[in-house]
Formats: sequence, C-alpha cells, structure tokens
Amino acid sequence: MDKANRLLLLCASPRKQGTSAMLLRRIQKSAGGDLVFLPQQGDFTEVLAAMRRADSMVISGPCYVNSYPARLYQLVEAAAREGGFAGQKLYGIINGGMPYTHTHRHGLDMLSLFAGGCALTWQGGFVLGGGAMLDGKELEKHLSRRRLVPAFDRFIQHIKAGSPSPDNLYEDAQKPLGRLLTLLMAKLLTRMAEKRIRQHGHDPNAPNAYLRDRPPT
Ligand SMILES: Cc1cc2nc3c(=O)[nH]c(=O)nc-3n(C[C@H](O)[C@H](O)[C@H](O)COP(=O)(O)O)c2cc1C
Repeated sequence: MDKANRLLLLCASPRKQGTSAMLLRRIQKSAGGDLVFLPQQGDFTEVLAAMRRADSMVISGPCYVNSYPARLYQLVEAAAREGGFAGQKLYGIINGGMPYTHTHRHGLDMLSLFAGGCALTWQGGFVLGGGAMLDGKELEKHLSRRRLVPAFDRFIQHIKAGSPSPDNLYEDAQKPLGRLLTLLMAKLLTRMAEKRIRQHGHDPNAPNAYLRDRPPT
C-alpha cells in the first residue's frame, strides 16, 4: 500500500486475541495500518475521528446471532448521525463459529448499506466460517486452509491495491459440508458448549433463566 494511504484496521470483537483480531494482524503484517479496538464502553469520538482520517478501513468482527455484535451497530448509527466521511474505502470481515458463510454474510450486507448511506465506498469483504475453532490461531490451522489461505491473501492484495474484492473469493474457498459432517459438527459444538457451561458451574439442561424466574401465569 502507498505510504501516503492511511489504513485503519478496526476490530469489533471484545476479544483482543480472537479470530477477528488475528485476521487484522495478518493484514497489518502485509499492508501496514493502525489496529484499533472498538471501545466496548463510552462514546465513539476517537474511533470516529480515526475513521474520518483514514483513506481505507477494514472492519473485522465476529458473527453474534447472524450478524456483527450490537456494539458495532451502535458505532455505525453514531457514524451515520454525525457524518463527515469523504469516500473512504470500506472493507468488511466477519467470522462465525459455524463452518459456513451464508448466515454470517448479513454483517457485510449491513456494512455495505452503511457505506451507501454515509459517503463511504464499499469495497466488499471476506466471510470466514469455522472461526471459533481457530480461536485466534493462525489461518494455516483452519480445516479449509488449502484454499482459504491463498483466498485471504488475495483479499489482502485487494486492500493493498485499493480494488474491490469479489464475494466468490471467500465463497469458492469454503465449500459447504455434507449432511453427515454437519450433523457431527453440530454435536461436537454442542458438547463443547455444554462442557464450558458446566465449567462455569451451571447446568446446561436447566430451564432458561428468564422463563424460570417468570411468575406463574
Ligand atoms: C453472543 C454470541 C453469539 C454468537 N452467535 C453466533 C452465530 O449466530 N453464528 C455463529 O456461527 N457463531 C456465533 N458465535 C460464535 C462466534 O462468532 C465465534 O466464536 C467467533 O469466532 C468469535 O470471534 P472472535 O474470536 O473474533 O471474538 C457467537 C458467539 C457469541 C459469544
């Protein structure tokens, strides 16, 4: 990337060593740029100023219930209210636990709408499935690494060149699992989640706390 180009790498995950941050660090290694974590509390004054100063930005975050975390929506709403953008290039990355891309990509749709409404230039993005299994480890540890690593590195080349990144880059690198594998994966992830719930001293089969504490009707 041209030295005069200011690249902002904004992490929308609260986990500083998670998969969203790992992907931004991979970009930073090749393209440079400033890595900034979305503040989880307080106002957005500083981060909005950094967004306005940038020539290009990459927002990377996890998929929380089929889109980005609510905190990023708050940022985007504040950005839309306050404005001040001037054609900055925006790329998005979203990674989800499930090993597919179709539900996670709603996050990118949201960012493209944000760009369209706020004088930013939408440049496309990258959806990564199976991000929870990586848990911040390098992309070379991903089950689909053979196709995924070169695809993500091409995404980085688009950022460096300032060119739009097409969806088929990440789609072609991650083929959906077959039915049997999907079933096995669902069982494995459920077992992992239940184990963690137990580790925190809870019963995974206990009734939902909101329903349990509701007065009888
Ligand atoms: C509150 C919450 C909601 C989540 N919702 C989804 C989801 O809808 N689909 C999915 O595939 N993964 C979901 N996940 C898993 C995360 O997307 C996954 O662990 C991701 O790799 C975290 O990224 P990070 O390490 O950058 O924080 C959820 C995780 C949390 C904590």
